Formats: sequence, C-alpha cells, structure tokens
Amino acid sequence: MKTPTELTRPIHSLLIIFLLLLLYMHFQVKAQELHKGFSATPDSSSKSFQPLLTDSSNNFSLGFLRVNRSQLTLAILHLPSSEPTWFVNTTRNLEWSKNNKLLFNGSLVLSNSHEGVLWSTQSANGNTLLLHNNSNLQILDSDSVITWQSFDHPTNTLVQNQNFTSEMSLVSSNGQFEMKLGDNFIGLYSTFEQDSKQIYWKHTAMQAKAEIVQGNGPLYSQISLHGYLGTYQTENAPVDVLPFDSFQRPVTGIRRLKLESDGNLQAYYWNGMSWLLDFKAISEECELPSSCGSYGLCKPGKNCECLNNKTEYNHSSGEECFSSQTGNFCEEKEEGFWVLRRNGVDLPYKELMEFEQMDSLDACEDSCEKNCSCWGSVFNNVTGYCYKIDYPIQSLVSVGDENKIGYFKVRTVVEKKRHVGYVIGIGILVCAVLMFFAVAGFGALRIWNRRTRVNWFVHDDGISPGPYRDLGSGSFRSVELCKS
Ligand SMILES: *[C@@H]1O[C@H](CO)[C@@H](O)[C@H](O)[C@H]1NC(C)=O
Ligand SMILES: *[C@@H]1O[C@H](CO)[C@@H](O)[C@H](O)[C@H]1NC(C)=O
Ligand SMILES: *[C@@H]1O[C@H](CO)[C@@H](O)[C@H](O)[C@H]1NC(C)=O
Ligand SMILES: *[C@@H]1O[C@H](CO)[C@@H](O)[C@H](O)[C@H]1NC(C)=O
Ligand SMILES: *[C@@H]1O[C@H](CO)[C@@H](O)[C@H](O)[C@H]1NC(C)=O
Ligand SMILES: *[C@@H]1O[C@H](CO)[C@@H](O)[C@H](O)[C@H]1NC(C)=O
Ligand SMILES: *[C@@H]1O[C@H](CO)[C@@H](O)[C@H](O)[C@H]1NC(C)=O
Ligand SMILES: *[C@@H]1O[C@H](CO)[C@@H](O)[C@H](O)[C@H]1NC(C)=O
Ligand SMILES: *[C@@H]1O[C@H](CO)[C@@H](O)[C@H](O)[C@H]1NC(C)=O
Ligand SMILES: *[C@@H]1O[C@H](CO)[C@@H](O)[C@H](O)[C@H]1NC(C)=O
Repeated sequence: MKTPTELTRPIHSLLIIFLLLLLYMHFQVKAQELHKGFSATPDSSSKSFQPLLTDSSNNFSLGFLRVNRSQLTLAILHLPSSEPTWFVNTTRNLEWSKNNKLLFNGSLVLSNSHEGVLWSTQSANGNTLLLHNNSNLQILDSDSVITWQSFDHPTNTLVQNQNFTSEMSLVSSNGQFEMKLGDNFIGLYSTFEQDSKQIYWKHTAMQAKAEIVQGNGPLYSQISLHGYLGTYQTENAPVDVLPFDSFQRPVTGIRRLKLESDGNLQAYYWNGMSWLLDFKAISEECELPSSCGSYGLCKPGKNCECLNNKTEYNHSSGEECFSSQTGNFCEEKEEGFWVLRRNGVDLPYKELMEFEQMDSLDACEDSCEKNCSCWGSVFNNVTGYCYKIDYPIQSLVSVGDENKIGYFKVRTVVEKKRHVGYVIGIGILVCAVLMFFAVAGFGALRIWNRRTRVNWFVHDDGISPGPYRDLGSGSFRSVELCKS
C-alpha cells in the first residue's frame, strides 16, 4: 500500500514545476532592462499585447501590439489602460508573424526575414535597453550614456516631462495631421496633400511670463505637473502657458497630450481608473479639418451631409461622399474633373488661410479652374474674398449666409472604374466563349473517340478512368471528408 504522500508526490513535483514556470514567466515579463543580444518574435497565442520589457512601476511596457487583429507594431503601452504612449513608425503595415523579429544588437532593430530591416534606432553602440517609469525607453552604451530615447521620437503622444522641440512633430496615427512648433507658436497642420501642409489651428505664445528673445535658441514645450502645456526658451520661465481644465489643480496620475485621428489635440490625466479629458484644442466639431470626411458638409449641432446633398450618407458608419481623392490635376492631360457648387458654405479655419480679393465670383472660380493644383474655392460675394483650396476637398461648414459660394472640383474616378469594369467584363466574356468552345470541342472529340473505338485515356494498367467510376470515387471522397 502506498502512503498518501507517495500518492501525491507526482502532483507536488508538478506543482513545483508549474510554480517555477510561473516565476520564470513573471521575471520574463517584468524585465526592467534588456541587454545586447536580446531578440524576440511575436507569439501567435498573444491576443493583444506581448510584453517584452516592463518598467519598475509596472505601469508601462514595451512589447508587440496587435493592430486590427492581424497586424503588428512595437509599442510602449500604459498597461492599466492599454493606451499606447509610443509606437514605431514603419512605412507599411506588418503582419503578426514569426517572420518579423525584434533584436537588440546595439541598435533596436525590427526586421523581416524576407525584407530585412524595417525599422531601427540606428544607435550602433548600445549596450542596455531601459524602460523608465515615465514611459521613456532609453538605449545606453557601456558608459551609461544615452544613445537613443523614445522621448526624442514621439509619435502621436507627449507625456509629462517629455520635451517637444522644433525638430520634432506629433503625427496622428492615420498620418493626416501634424503638430509642429513654430518660432513663436504651436501649430496643427493637415497633410491631405504631400507638398501642401495647411495650418488649421494656431496657438501663439502669449509671452506673459517671459519674452521670446531672438538668438536665445529655439523653443520647446513640455506638459507641466500643474496642468498646462508650457513653452520655454530657457528653463527659467515659460514664454507661454496653455492651460488645461485642471490648471494649478494637483492630480495624482500622469498626464498626456495626444494628436487624435480626427485632428484634435487633447490632453488627459489618469485618475487611477481611466483617462479624464482635460483639454481640447478644437471644441466645435465643425471646426475640425475633416469632421464630415471629404466633400462633407458639417451642420453645427446636426448630422453630416454631402456637399452634393447625397441622400443616405452616414459619416459615422464610415461612408464617404466620393471615394477619397489624392494628388492634384497637374499630371493629367485631360481635364479629369467635374465641378460641384454649393452656396452657404464656409471653410472651417479660413482665418488661417490665405485669400485674394477679387471683383467677381467668375474671377475667383476662373483662377481656380485654370490652376491644376487648385481643388476648389470659396468666394464671399459681399467682401470679395476668394479662398483657394490646394489640397483634396475636406469638410466645409454650413452657414446661413448664401453669399458664401463654394466651387469644388471632383475627380472623375467613376468613369475610369467603368472603363475597368468594361475591360474585365469583356475579358470574362471572351474567356467564357473560349471555354464553351473548348468544352464543346472536347465533347465532340469524345463522341468521335467512342465511335471510332479508340480510347486515348487507357492507362498502362489497362483501366480506363471512365466517367462513372470517377464520379463515384469523387463523391465517396467528399462524403469521407464531410464525415471527418
Ligand atoms: C519613478 O522613478 C523615479 C526615479 O527614477 C522616482 O523618483 C519616482 O518615484 C518613480 N515613480 C513611480 C510612480 O514609481
Ligand atoms: C503607476 O503610476 C502611478 C503614478 O502615476 C503610481 O501611483 C502607481 O503606484 C503606479 N502603479 C504601480 C502598479 O506601480
Ligand atoms: C485598421 O483597419 C481600418 C479599417 O479597416 C483602417 O482604416 C486602418 O487604416 C487600419 N489600421 C492599420 C494600422 O492598418
Ligand atoms: C544589427 O542588425 C541589423 C540587422 O541585421 C544590421 O543591419 C546592423 O548593422 C546590426 N548592427 C550592429 C551594430 O551590429
Ligand atoms: C514616419 O516616417 C515617415 C517616413 O519614413 C516620415 O515622413 C514621418 O514623419 C514619420 N513620422 C513620425 C511620427 O516620425
Ligand atoms: C528637457 O529640456 C530641458 C532643458 O533643455 C532639460 O533640462 C531636461 O533634462 C530635458 N528633459 C528631458 C526628459 O530630456
Ligand atoms: C438636401 O436634401 C434634403 C432632403 O433630400 C432637402 O430637404 C434639402 O432641402 C436639400 N438641401 C439642399 C441645400 O439642397
Ligand atoms: C449611422 O451609422 C451608425 C454606425 O454604423 C449607426 O449607429 C447610426 O444609427 C446610423 N445612422 C443612420 C441615420 O442610419
Ligand atoms: C496655383 O495654385 C498654387 C497653390 O495655391 C499657387 O502656389 C500657384 O502660384 C498657382 N499658380 C498660378 C499660375 O496661379
Ligand atoms: C452677388 O452679389 C451681387 C450683387 O451684390 C448679386 O447681383 C449677385 O446675384 C450675387 N451672386 C450670387 C451668386 O449670390
């Protein structure tokens, strides 16, 4: 007879192994620094985030983040909220697959087994990779000198105490909006057209506490613990204070500023449970650069509409008035556009746009029509101001004033699509006809074969794969497949 201890011994050792495994995994996840030689590949069992390096407070972690279920990015996550504070900027989307690998060989390198290096910190002599409790990821060399840090390469988010300089930019995750620091202002720009950045929000330094001195160096901005975005030229005093709602009110959690995908700049603080909104650069929905998508019309307090008043347009479910348009009309030989007009519309940030005064509506529209880099114009019939739009048309604001007249070019994509449709249609028809002849010919050949009693399909073993046998075995196989 075995004693109870003897009986449970295997369970004990199993438990110990299990605990050791847990402990091992715990330390794996909790690593606070990584050393040269480290490498990792995405684990297919990871549902959303695969941590690789976690900071001492356990609030932030660097790891592989799943985007759109099947795509991969390397990100630093605020763990309690799963909000990324930083992620790598690769030029294309990556698959969540073992072909993609992260390695630290002095540089932190994200590479693909087929395409080679996809992203790299290019910091050759790194020795240690460190994640701080403020979410800053640093690469230190053997003398503990910082050779690279994520704080110098922000993506769409700025966190407390991170310096934002005039060499940096925040870019919204869809790549359409950008925040930059000017010589005396903070600007938000839309980049709907590569060569033409349009400013849509501008905050000029108030220079209340200190003045901007020419030659005293460029400005930098920093989120303050006291609830504002401070802009500095020297550390002594800010040249500008952009207050948040919690200005001068102490909060326990960290603060962040994010350039959202709709182009708004928003600040938040963490209250221990969730992120509370603390600042919004653009408070009116219609003032956003693309509140209703391209060729959309924003009616304050109401739904979106299309400029051509298309019925059944639901912007919130992702519908567009016209398929998204890019580029300009300069490379096209033919005109390539048709014209859409609408009265009672205004540009959402026209005070930041340039204009020309013109005598008539015709003169304004004419100057846009003739210029291949112009996408449209808005003319004020009372003041004579002519605003020209040199990027694909985004959203306009509905105003009561019928004297504001919009002229918009719409690329004739539909026609091209129909041409493509025709070509495909004709292709299919030709294929069908060819197949018909082939089948008919084959049938005729078989009939002819049967009549002449020559069987071209007799195999070496003398068994002909006749139609009945083939069919029989085929259906048998499918039945078997259905069963299994
Ligand atoms: C973060 O680290 C700094 C020192 O590096 C320390 O003073 C601070 O208390 C830490 N904060 C948290 C939340 O752990
Ligand atoms: C996360 O950071 C906050 C401060 O922002 C700190 O109070 C908290 O203890 C941290 N969480 C953990 C698990 O360390
Ligand atoms: C995720 O999918 C949405 C819609 O399908 C798309 O608009 C977006 O660009 C995708 N994001 C990435 C990072 O690919
Ligand atoms: C690290 O690896 C990448 C990709 O294999 C390579 O391009 C780079 O030269 C390596 N860097 C060093 C310092 O070895
Ligand atoms: C991402 O990379 C592209 C080109 O590689 C660059 O134009 C863009 O500014 C980068 N974005 C950020 C946020 O660094
Ligand atoms: C931000 O800039 C100031 C002034 O140049 C500097 O003292 C400070 O260390 C910087 N902070 C970080 C996190 O780099
Ligand atoms: C837009 O369409 C709606 C309903 O079809 C109509 O009530 C409205 O008057 C139209 N607006 C314009 C400016 O044509
Ligand atoms: C528009 O789409 C959203 C999301 O798909 C849906 O919730 C809403 O009811 C739709 N509105 C209309 C008027 O169909
Ligand atoms: C066409 O428009 C662009 C952008 O608005 C402007 O820079 C350019 O000077 C215009 N060209 C002519 C010939 O007016
Ligand atoms: C523009 O104003 C003139 C006179 O002020 C008027 O005759 C004309 O009809 C207006 N045009 C439009 C399109 O409203």
